[in-house]
Amino acid sequence: MTRGTRMIVGAVVALAVVAGLGWLIFGRGESGPVVNVYSARSHYGTEAVFKRFTEETGIRVEILGGEPGALVDRIAAEGERTKADLLITTDAGFLWKATEEGLLAPVTNAALETAVPENLRDAQGRWYAIALRARTVMRSTERVTEAQAPATYAALGDARWKGRLCLRTSNNVYNQSLVATLIADRGEAAAQRILESWMANDPIILGSDTEVLEAIAAGRCDVGLTNTYYLGNKLREDAAFPVAPVWADQDAGGTHVNVSGVGLTTAATHREDAIRLMEYLLTPEAQRLIAEGNSEYPVLEGVPSAEWIRGWGDFTADTRPIVRAGEFQAQAVQLMNEVGWK
Ligand code: FE2
Repeated sequence: MTRGTRMIVGAVVALAVVAGLGWLIFGRGESGPVVNVYSARSHYGTEAVFKRFTEETGIRVEILGGEPGALVDRIAAEGERTKADLLITTDAGFLWKATEEGLLAPVTNAALETAVPENLRDAQGRWYAIALRARTVMRSTERVTEAQAPATYAALGDARWKGRLCLRTSNNVYNQSLVATLIADRGEAAAQRILESWMANDPIILGSDTEVLEAIAAGRCDVGLTNTYYLGNKLREDAAFPVAPVWADQDAGGTHVNVSGVGLTTAATHREDAIRLMEYLLTPEAQRLIAEGNSEYPVLEGVPSAEWIRGWGDFTADTRPIVRAGEFQAQAVQLMNEVGWK
């Protein structure tokens, strides 16, 4: 293996938290069919879904975990010699980047095209969403009623939230993708006005979505903006965690929903088995495992979300193509810098 940590899962599932540091192997032995995956979801812990795939097919899955940007760069640097058959990463911005760099191959596949709505996959089949995460307004359930909460992204800039707003840093791709969609949908000037109104509220800027949620719970701020699964994972541990989502923009545009996705690399050497894994990831069984594992929303219609987030209710999602999160990413970063978002 290229790097240190190498494990046989099953025996040492508990060690999965270190998956981000090296290869994680599902299945035993060195021989037989294998699919190599570079996965930026490894920090969410062992995904039971790969183990199930191996059990059902006998195909080993070897996973190299890492940060999304680093994995994309690594596939690019490795070129034809890359081990990666599949790239699995969070955020449409990174999937888009991988296609821009020519790292992902078109996969025309009826099962995948049926399972994944058009707005959640690449038009050429170079990536398909496998899990969904809304990025929306969060409120303290102790200090902000549903009726008082900001009902739109723009409303986070309302003066009554001055000194009461927590945001994550601007160098984070989740925020960059959200801002990219604001620019794509409303134009740069309108997006700029929204961001300036947020900055005028003197937001407390924190290093992670989890920190934003914890700051709301602790009373450092009353509202914020995070991905839904971070709250879902909190609620799985503590049903009384005093934060709730507010579904933003229900009257226009819908709540921003980003993806984790999978794409076949152009250099893939285990093409057929890799596509089989892609197909498996979009089956009802796999979708349930993925959604429950990290409190995300399934892509496949009819698969329930985790029981501990069902109380959030249904919401209208933004269904415009998520690929624009990548297309407008550079503009978003520039705009965030311009308005002084730290
Ligand atoms: Fe995340």
